[in-house]
Amino acid sequence: MKNNYKELIEQTYNFPQEGFDLQKDRLHFNGIDLKKILDNYRTPLRISYLPKIREQIQKARNLFYQAFKKYDYAGSYEYCYCTKCCHFSYVIKTALKESVSLETSSSYDIDLILKLYEHGALSKDATILHNGIKTEEYLEKIRLLQNLDFERTVIILDSVQELERINNQKLEKPIKIGLRLSIDEEPQAAYYTSRLGINKQELLKLVKDKIQTNEFLELHMIHFFVDSGINDNLYYWGEFKKALQLYIQIKQLVPSLQALNIGGGFPIRNSLGFEYDYEYVVDEIVRNIKEACVQACVSEPDIYTEFGKYTVGESGAVIFSVIEQKQQNGTELWYIIDNSLMNTIPDSWSINEKFILLPINKWENDYKRIHIGGISCDNSDYYNSEQLNQQILLPTFDDKGGEDPLYIGFFHTGAYQEAISGYGGIKHCLIPSPRQIVVDKDEHGNLIDYLYCDEQSVSNMLSILGYDD
Ligand SMILES: Cc1ncc(COP(=O)(O)O)c(C=O)c1O
Repeated sequence: MKNNYKELIEQTYNFPQEGFDLQKDRLHFNGIDLKKILDNYRTPLRISYLPKIREQIQKARNLFYQAFKKYDYAGSYEYCYCTKCCHFSYVIKTALKESVSLETSSSYDIDLILKLYEHGALSKDATILHNGIKTEEYLEKIRLLQNLDFERTVIILDSVQELERINNQKLEKPIKIGLRLSIDEEPQAAYYTSRLGINKQELLKLVKDKIQTNEFLELHMIHFFVDSGINDNLYYWGEFKKALQLYIQIKQLVPSLQALNIGGGFPIRNSLGFEYDYEYVVDEIVRNIKEACVQACVSEPDIYTEFGKYTVGESGAVIFSVIEQKQQNGTELWYIIDNSLMNTIPDSWSINEKFILLPINKWENDYKRIHIGGISCDNSDYYNSEQLNQQILLPTFDDKGGEDPLYIGFFHTGAYQEAISGYGGIKHCLIPSPRQIVVDKDEHGNLIDYLYCDEQSVSNMLSILGYDD
């Protein structure tokens, strides 16, 4: 007996599930009737669902507060949003309405901070962490921010040389600094120690020789970030414990030290079968810190996180129409979509990132194993691996005309995709950036949507390329 696509999904996963359900053969994403959106705006399009950002922030905060209560934890929890993950104003402003702190990564980020201030979205008492490699220009702008009385800024040093550059600025009043510890990479990595941050020996020397003795430097924070994410595995907990021990060692030398910043890396759902026990992981983080501090007789630090992908990833989706089916041999059927995957979800081909892939319509149809290809001429512009035994199964459909096309969506794409591919600009094969729709809720809880930006125009692209008349 052959089942249809709907039965396949219902039998393979726990479906419907948070954020995804089916109503009259049409997929709803967080309550949004996607077919209705497509009828209004057409594909290809990106959707940003802002309430999800608020939910994620509240969820993480609740988990930390619960664990604080359980372990009688005296420090505070600071949720920072790292701007590099998605810079769009509607995203950052949504996060700021939840009173998050911000983390910056480069010089232009400071201009973005000043704009947010000008727009009334950010006040001068917001906590701002300056991470990333500090070029002269970046440091000058941080200084400007400090001179404008943004008082809760912390410069997190990425190298010993950065301290020299700061000292060259001839400080007039004390500034708060943090130190980023470089982590050891996983065994399969191409190098052993991350280039980001300062290694443990140098870091300790820096504290003793240059920081403790400088009255203008107030060491406030130790930071580390495990790039592969906060995973419940030996590698993560090993790096975590090394950083925690270093925090304690330095806290015993420098009483002003008060914060442990564990960086980003909270995962998001990248498949319908995704499982991750957020509550357990947060509990373990708090328990480990509390126990180590009690044992060493130091006060427990304020815990900072810089969740990027977790904050915004699940709020995003990108939706395409299948414009053509190509049976290239007896077994390989291609669905060609109306944009490029390399351009719109670059993480899928560059770092093999997975996203939730679902059709928007035709759930009652049979399904077939297919490959998905973009319209650029690049060989790698395709997506072919899903959870279902490394194959993509999607509904069959008749493309002989008359019927709606098959619409397919990649979900939870809200983080990094535009930051990496760029939004607008010049794209592979001159394929334009899709139109962008924002969905929010009004004060009565009703969904509202608006067009943030239409599909990139040909004149915009040609102008960048120097073809203005
Ligand atoms: C220093 C730092 N903090 C936070 C993040 C955010 O990581 P994620 O999006 O995985 O939460 C990054 C990502 O590169 C980072 O470099």
